Amino acid sequence: MSPMAFSARPTVLRCGRCGRFMDWAEARLQVVCGCRPHLDLPPVLTREATPAERQAVLDLFEQDFGRTRVATHGDVVDLTSVETLVAEMEGAVAGALAWRQMGDALHIVALATDPMWQRAGVGGHLLAEAEALARKSGLARLVVTASNDNLPGLYFYQRHGYRIVEVVRDAAAQHPELRPLPGFADIPPLDELRLEKRL
Ligand SMILES: CC(C)(COP(=O)(O)OP(=O)(O)OC[C@H]1O[C@@H](n2cnc3c(N)ncnc32)[C@H](O)[C@@H]1OP(=O)(O)O)[C@@H](O)C(=O)NCCC(=O)NCCS
Repeated sequence: MSPMAFSARPTVLRCGRCGRFMDWAEARLQVVCGCRPHLDLPPVLTREATPAERQAVLDLFEQDFGRTRVATHGDVVDLTSVETLVAEMEGAVAGALAWRQMGDALHIVALATDPMWQRAGVGGHLLAEAEALARKSGLARLVVTASNDNLPGLYFYQRHGYRIVEVVRDAAAQHPELRPLPGFADIPPLDELRLEKRL
């Protein structure tokens, strides 16, 4: 699928080598060893989003997912109507995690880190906050979905102990009302991978 078919090409990811921001289609995967330096970065604060932060959060999701409605677990979820945790760095919203309760699980509907703050611990802190919230609410597990092309997302969740429990083939085709978006490295986003972490 050609990225030229899409009018907006927001930056989503930050290059681990040169630091440049890029969109999904432009991104490539590279395996590295443990040579990456650990950077001393400002602390990450996580908490519930305030009403005043609502727009910044939606802008972040819009930038990362190309829309504020997300197809996940058989539903199309409107990100304006779900609970959201934010990560704050240097006084600004650096990342956000939208969630809802689904039976005995906390369902992570969307998670995004501003490209400026990727690989600074923001995503990891947001996941930890969501896991603490699930425990406090007496839930048994967390669930999340990622499309087949989202290799950084699949890496990230598995690094944090999430297991793939189901693959829904051709899930994207079940939502023709959502405009198709370019995939990571131009891999077509077709299938939905469901992951879970038991608490
Ligand atoms: C996937 C995503 C949420 C990860 O967020 P993130 O904020 O970059 O995540 P973290 O910073 O916690 O961890 C990323 C890496 O940075 C490393 N890192 C964290 N702090 C660091 C520091 N101070 N110095 C060096 N490296 C650091 C982590 O160890 C991790 O690498 P590793 O797993 O290889 O060890 C982010 O890439 C993103 O927004 N992607 C686009 C949207 C998306 O795919 N969302 C998920 C599907 S819904």
